[in-house]
Amino acid sequence: APLQALNTFHVQASAAQLLELHDAALLPEVLALPEVANGPLLVLGSGSNVLIAEDLPGTVLVFGNREISFLEHRADHAVIRAGAGVSWHGLVMWSLQEGLSGLENLALIPGTAGASPIQNIGAYGAQVGEFIQTVEAWDCQEKTWVRLDNEQCGFAYRDSVFKQQPDRYLITAIELKLPLLHDLRMGYAGIREELQAQGVELPSAVDVANAVIAIRRRKLPDPDVLGNAGSFFKNPVLPLEQVEVLLQHFPELPVFPADRDDRRKVSAAWMIESCGWKGFREGDAGVAPSHALVLVNHGNATGTELLALARRISASVLEKFGVPIEPEPRLLGAQW
Ligand code: FAD
Ligand code: EPU
Repeated sequence: APLQALNTFHVQASAAQLLELHDAALLPEVLALPEVANGPLLVLGSGSNVLIAEDLPGTVLVFGNREISFLEHRADHAVIRAGAGVSWHGLVMWSLQEGLSGLENLALIPGTAGASPIQNIGAYGAQVGEFIQTVEAWDCQEKTWVRLDNEQCGFAYRDSVFKQQPDRYLITAIELKLPLLHDLRMGYAGIREELQAQGVELPSAVDVANAVIAIRRRKLPDPDVLGNAGSFFKNPVLPLEQVEVLLQHFPELPVFPADRDDRRKVSAAWMIESCGWKGFREGDAGVAPSHALVLVNHGNATGTELLALARRISASVLEKFGVPIEPEPRLLGAQW
């Protein structure tokens, strides 16, 4: 089965078998089918965070359960449940229409609700892990259904137990606790300016979502037009002392807070741009002209070509800054 439409880099690759499952309750039976049980299994959402370097030998499973429901609806908060196949951005906009807030800064992130906990998706000062109450999954190791609470998910910057133990948990639904009212987060660079430019004086959660959408449309290439997987590298998290030394040499390096006080996150995009890669192109593999952290496929680049470019970029950043940078997308059929 062809996977070109199932990965946002739009690289050509195939899977031996592709299954779409609409009723997640049938998962254990599907996994027990000989044609599934005898080979490797990979769950894909919409393929917006993978780089496929080789044809996949086994089964690719896509969840088609797309229902959204209320589990609780109180005066100050609600708990909602979304099937793994629900579109993430669709869920954000639905929650805002229902008068719930919290997810506005996470508007327009591609992908599915089921994939959102994997790398604890984040943008503009928010992360999904702040709102997840429960992740429902099939545990392939223990061969049983599990309901992981927030703590068990081990959320951190672009990280979780699901990312640490790939392919162990097949996520079938997520449950989010969302406030009806909360303090809007407008501290991230550009949000206030965007609201001002739109003439918004007393912003609502919907206004913040619209500002985030406008900024993202300017900065990030649309994968339907130019294949990409968003940020190709994570922003490295470094000890404070190392960051201070770096700042002596590169005073303009953007530095952000990290999960721990004695660490800081530094901008991979800035380091890559300063190595001269922004807008670079060789064959059909390149770096987005609008954002140095985004690798792009101009047409027929293969996963291997994109990976080779990524390695050259990371080697040049290591040489100039002494900082290793690591891919954010899951590499399929290749090792970093
Ligand atoms: P896929 O790419 O299909 O899968 C990603 C990984 O999760 C794979 O390892 C897959 O096996 C696993 N997986 C998927 N679904 C399940 C499931 N149900 N159960 C178990 N494992 C599963 N990310 C951010 O955090 N912030 C951003 O701002 C952001 N911006 C982006 C902008 C663009 C233009 C693009 C293309 C990507 C961006 N991303 C961003 C990355 C991407 O949107 C997220 O990582 C998203 O959560 C991936 O969802 P998906 O359904 O496409 O997952
Ligand atoms: N910058 C450059 N050159 C560029 C782009 C950015 O120097 O080409 C510098 C600028 O100084 C800018 C700073 O980097 O102010 C930060 O840029 P941006 O706001 O675009 O954020 P980012 O750190 O590059 C992260 C996430 C994005 C997320 C944005 C917004 C990671 C790996 N990436 O990018 O997530 O949308 O913040 O919050 O943490 C993704 O994960 O796929 C993704 C797109």
